[in-house]
Amino acid sequence: MKLYYEKRGSGPAILFGHGFPFDHTMWRAQLDGLSGDFTVITPDFRGMGQSPASGEKVTTMPDLADDLSALLDQLGIEKCAYCGLSMGGYVGLEFWRRHADRLSALILCDTNARCDSPEGAAKRLATAEKLEAEKTCVFMVDSMKQNLMTPATLADAENPLGVFAAYRKMVTENNPLGVASVARGMAQRSDFSEAVRQISVPTLVLTGEQDVLSPPSAMSALAETIPGAQFASIPDAAHLAPMEQPAQLNIEIQRFLEEI
Ligand code: MLT
Repeated sequence: MKLYYEKRGSGPAILFGHGFPFDHTMWRAQLDGLSGDFTVITPDFRGMGQSPASGEKVTTMPDLADDLSALLDQLGIEKCAYCGLSMGGYVGLEFWRRHADRLSALILCDTNARCDSPEGAAKRLATAEKLEAEKTCVFMVDSMKQNLMTPATLADAENPLGVFAAYRKMVTENNPLGVASVARGMAQRSDFSEAVRQISVPTLVLTGEQDVLSPPSAMSALAETIPGAQFASIPDAAHLAPMEQPAQLNIEIQRFLEEI
């Protein structure tokens, strides 16, 4: 599966995996801010953004991790750091399990290592049905927004250059069939709560201080289970921390990658 991607800069490679139901544009500030020192690669996952969908009813996290490995082959990159937000973090854990030899460092951003509860999985399947029936992702803009951004970002919704506008564009323009397929894949993802104890690459765990989906308490607990992992929380940011506080996030990523 060929992925759409942007690639900029030179030096050690860092691959960014976006969240759900977003696309590579959520990492624009990381592409701009980090490509002076790194080769920054921001793909769209299969069926999302500008990457084609497979047409399968279910796109699993292993499918998405294997697509990343194929992209590295295509780019002639043997090994890279990987930074994933939320669903991108689920993919990152699969990438570690399936392609550990290609991973030089792992950054888990506003995510978790657990699988869905039966209720959570059922909700996702219902969302997938709705996406297929309505053939649009537009309803997700409002249904998800409260959990994703700070009150300050939400209050800035009418600013055409703001974070909310970028969020709305990503979700509205996403491919409902691709998004539905990935939602089903997330519903059946593996639980990594115990497996993360085996991670042996340098790991940084980041979260927005106001993230209600991946709160700092849960993210610091995750960091404690990963040998040697570092943890930082980003002030004035929620789940979309890389978009809400890009400068701070970039400082944390740069510091971490230069230290290891
Ligand atoms: C994301 O931002 O990728 C989602 O919150 C992930 C999820 O729905 O579990």
